[in-house]
Parts: sequence; C-alpha cells; structure tokens
Amino acid sequence: MKINDTIAVIDFGGQYAHLIATKVRRQGVFAEIRQPEDPIEAFGGYRGIIISGSPSLASHGEDTDYTKEIYDLDMPILGFCFGHQEIAKHYGGKVIHGGREWGSSQLQLSNDHPLFSGLGSFETVWMSHFDSVAEIGPDFKEIGVTLTPDGVAEHRYAAIASDSLKRYGFQFHPEVDSTVNGDKMISNFVYGICQCSPSWSMDGFIERKKEEIKKQVGNKSVFLLASGGVDSTVAAVLIGQVLGPDRLHLLHVDNGFMRKNESQNVLKLFEKLGLGSNLHFVNATDTFLNALSDVVDPETKRRIIGDTFIEVFEDQANKIGIAEHLLGQGTIYPDTIESGGTKRADTIKTHHNRVPAIEDMIRQGKIIEPLAELYKTEVRELGELLGIPQEALDRHPFPGPGLGVRLLCSSGDALDVDLAAIQPAVSELSEQTQVAGLVLPIRSVGVKADLRAYEYPVLISGKLPWNSLINLVSALTSEVENINRCIWNLSSGIPKVARPLATTATRERLDILREADFIVMDSLKSHNLYHEIWQCPTVLLPIELDGQPGEMVIIRPIISERGMTAAPVELPTHLLLELRGRILDLPGVSSLALDITSKPPATIEWE
Ligand code: XMP
Repeated sequence: MKINDTIAVIDFGGQYAHLIATKVRRQGVFAEIRQPEDPIEAFGGYRGIIISGSPSLASHGEDTDYTKEIYDLDMPILGFCFGHQEIAKHYGGKVIHGGREWGSSQLQLSNDHPLFSGLGSFETVWMSHFDSVAEIGPDFKEIGVTLTPDGVAEHRYAAIASDSLKRYGFQFHPEVDSTVNGDKMISNFVYGICQCSPSWSMDGFIERKKEEIKKQVGNKSVFLLASGGVDSTVAAVLIGQVLGPDRLHLLHVDNGFMRKNESQNVLKLFEKLGLGSNLHFVNATDTFLNALSDVVDPETKRRIIGDTFIEVFEDQANKIGIAEHLLGQGTIYPDTIESGGTKRADTIKTHHNRVPAIEDMIRQGKIIEPLAELYKTEVRELGELLGIPQEALDRHPFPGPGLGVRLLCSSGDALDVDLAAIQPAVSELSEQTQVAGLVLPIRSVGVKADLRAYEYPVLISGKLPWNSLINLVSALTSEVENINRCIWNLSSGIPKVARPLATTATRERLDILREADFIVMDSLKSHNLYHEIWQCPTVLLPIELDGQPGEMVIIRPIISERGMTAAPVELPTHLLLELRGRILDLPGVSSLALDITSKPPATIEWE
C-alpha cells in the first residue's frame, strides 16, 4: 500500500464516519480514520480528506477546536453534513440551527460538476441534520439543490463546491446505502478529484485477518458465542480455517428470546458446516428471564442481557474445562458505533456484545472479533469467499438479544412529556391528509442527526397512497417535537384512547411474540418476499386501544444494506390481509400496525 493512494477520514463522531472509510475501500482505495485533533503532520501524504458528520452542532460552534491547519493543505477536502457545514463556515459562509431533515430527499444536481459526473440531473439522497448552511463564501457555488415533494427548488446549499480551493461539501450522506448513487459520488471524489489509484481488496483483507488471528490467539483456543446468525457463523468459519477444528469451540445459548424452533435449526446448520465436533448448547432461558424479571428500561434490559451472556459463557467454559481461551464474537461495526464506541459518538443503543464487561475484557486482550470492522454486506461477501453456503448467508439479521428487544415493557406510569400537548399538532398534520393520528404512550429508540432519540410513535389510521403516507411520516417526525416513529393501523376503526399496560418480559408475552414473529416469517416466505426484504422485526407493545383487552403487534419490514439506514417496505394488500387475519387471531393480541418509518429518525429495532 502506498500512502499516496490513501484517503483520510476525519471522525467527528457521526454514526457514518467509519462507513465513509468502508465505502472508500469498497472503491478499491485505502482509507484511514483520523481524529480531528491529530497534529497537522499526521495529515501529510494523503491524496484527500473527507470530514464526517457529527452529533455536535456547527451552528452553536460545538467541537470547533480541531486541527484547522488542514484547510491550508494543498489537497482536496470533502465534508459531509457537519463536515460540509464546517467547510462552509471556514470559507466565509453561515450555518443556522434549522432546516432539519431526516431520511430520503430529492436533489437537483449540476451534473457537469466532476463530483457528479456520470449521474443524472436528479438524485435520491439521505439526510439526517438539525443545522443547515444559510450562506456560502465568495469562492463557492451551489452544485446541488433540494426539491420539495412538489418539485419546488429550495436553495439550502445541499451540495457546494469551490474548484479553485478544491473544497467541497454535501449536506446529505453519500456514504449511506440509501443515497442511491452515493458510491459513484465517492468514486468521483477519490478517483476523479483526488486522482487515487486502487490499493485495497477483500482477498487482501482475508489474508491480513488470518495473520492477525494467528498472532492474537497464539497457542490458546477460542470459545465462540455462536447464535447461528450470519456474523457469528462467518466468524466461526474464518477462525476455524486458521486454528483447525480442535482449537475452536462453539457455544450456542438459548436465551429464551429465540425465534420458534431457532436453536434446533442452528445446531443442524453448524453440523452441516462441519463445525459440529466442538459444538456446545445450553438452554439458559430461566437465567435470562430471572435477570429481567422486573426491568422495563430498554438500555437496562440490553445491559443485563449482555452481562448474562458472559456469565453463562464463563460458567460453560468452566464446566467444559476449556482453559486458556479467548471469547470469540461475531461483532460487526454497527454494534460498536451504535453503542457509542468511538470517542465522540453518541450511544444510540448498547448492543449485547458491547456492554461494559465486554469492553473490559477487550482491554485485557481476552476477546477476539475478526469482523469488528465490517458491515453485513461485507460479512456476506467474506462468507462467500470462505465457501459458506448461500442459505446460511442469506438469513435475515437477528440481534443477539433477540425477541428481548422486541418485547416492549412498561411501568404503566406517567410519561416524561405531556402527550396532550403534542396531540393537537399531530392531529392537524394528519387531518390535512384526511387520516387520523394518535400519539401512543410508549417510547422507542431512534436516531436524529447522530443523536439518540428516545421518543413517541404516532399511530396513523385511514387510507392513503403509500407515497402520501411516507410524506406524512416525514412531516410528523420533522415538524413535531418528541415524535421519532409512525405506524400505520392495520386493525379496523379509528382508535381514540391508548393506554400503557404495566408489564415486563414474561414467558407468556414471549410466547405470543414468538408466534406472531413465526407467522410473519412464514407469510413472507410463502409470498416469496423473504429475500426481497432485508429484515422484518415483529414487536409486541403493551398498549391497549379504546379499552379492548390485549396488546398491539407491530410488523417492521425494511430494506437496507448495512443496517445503518433503512427504508420501510410497502407490503402487498393481500399479504397484509392474511397477516391481519392470522395475527389478530392470537390470544392476547387486539391490534396490529405496520411500522412505516425510515432510519433515521427511527432505528430498525424499537429498543
Ligand atoms: P438498529 O435497531 O440500531 O439496528 O437500527 C441495526 C441492526 O443491528 C441489529 N442489532 C443488534 N445486533 N446485537 C446484535 O447482534 C444487538 O444488541 C443489536 N441491536 C440491534 C438490528 O437487528 C439491525 O439489524
């Protein structure tokens, strides 16, 4: 690798900073993450710099104490979101707190600009910001304009450029998969503007990883937590190829939050992959459920589930008598970034493999995670190169805490905000499109402009074409404070009153959710939609509508590539009717809704 063909990515703590480096590498060019306060000498020798987004506000002058001498360097600099705003400010522009947008946006481009070479005049891009650029400096021009849903141009400097200074900025995120031609824009920057030549490949990555595994494990062995999901399966095969079958033990834990028949299927899968010789299984349902018996708060639930995994793991390692081992995990990069695992990143949610006890073990060198830099797409590609059969790689992602984070709990008590104060704005926006909107008294996790948003959903009742529904979601989540998610009522009637039910993670509720989840998976498969959809969580909400006894089931079909952004999926009417019939028949369920929110502002999982 020649340093000349490397791009520096300055990580201001945005959710997608590492993804920028990944996307540059996927173009075949090496990229390195740098910290904003690194000395100016550290930036020498790169072909170009990309400045990431951030949870900080450029309008408020937050996080401005960075190495500004980068702007004196004679190399191209491109900024995304916060990075774009910092570039605009530095060269005489102005940034204001306002113009917020989440999710999909239409852009009209100056396609004669080299950054947009090969693209059309209109592009779908992805936004996630509170601040926006209100003025640009004299050397800059606007090369991308936002269009409203009615096609009106809004000159909010969605893309700017100064070709003489070689400084560029995008308010949107070309690095996320939902920006349809973002890869092309990144390629135009690294090859067209920075003049890089290729310096990275997945085959080279595998060779480097195998060497690293050999070195890190030495003569110890690895005991790997194997859920049967794509990540832990690929990690197992990769480590197994380096160490051989005798020094790799797999532990599959049934934590009680698995899908119907999941553990039996997983054990069969590992046998089929030739990983059956040191495969151990423990049913720890009681241990997990006891640990969660009176817990409601989602972050507390996540931490308890993560800690219980380690307890069960240590206990099994002692029982089996595996001395001198490392704990292996199939952790991928979203687990780290969402858990606030970089210096500036906000904690969106603590993934089970990133609880403090695991962080301690990482510091002590007791953990091995060969996929920790990758995203799901890269893991699948790596799995293919390792010869893993497609059926094991094509499974929908399923989180370690499983149904545990899809079974919402509630104390049934007063809420942190007065929903009656939010309801009028929600009703007004909904009625403008002839539907009804009801704020529900339960919170779910979301992400807005790189910050955790633990806020309320709106239940929309009434008929609307899909595009109008999505526009309404966008208006509700950006114009009404404390709303981060919208769901569309699939039950009959227009509910007027929603009441939270005081409840925790019980066996009975888990059984209801497991059955509902099974129905959803079964229907997607029988309608040949399983492979079209990236992931489809089914969620149980302790919410009672209009006094009808029973809880609410939510179906969340999404399309994504790396799980960092996601778009909701419109399911065919006949499938929705089938799901309605089957799910509303379940005992304990009285209503059903479809989650129609993108990520951001909601996350894929509710907790
Ligand atoms: P969110 O809900 O943050 O999810 O949009 C992004 C992706 O990560 C998965 N996820 C997890 N995976 N342990 C995991 O192994 C976890 O604790 C966890 N939490 C979320 C989620 O299913 C989605 O694919």
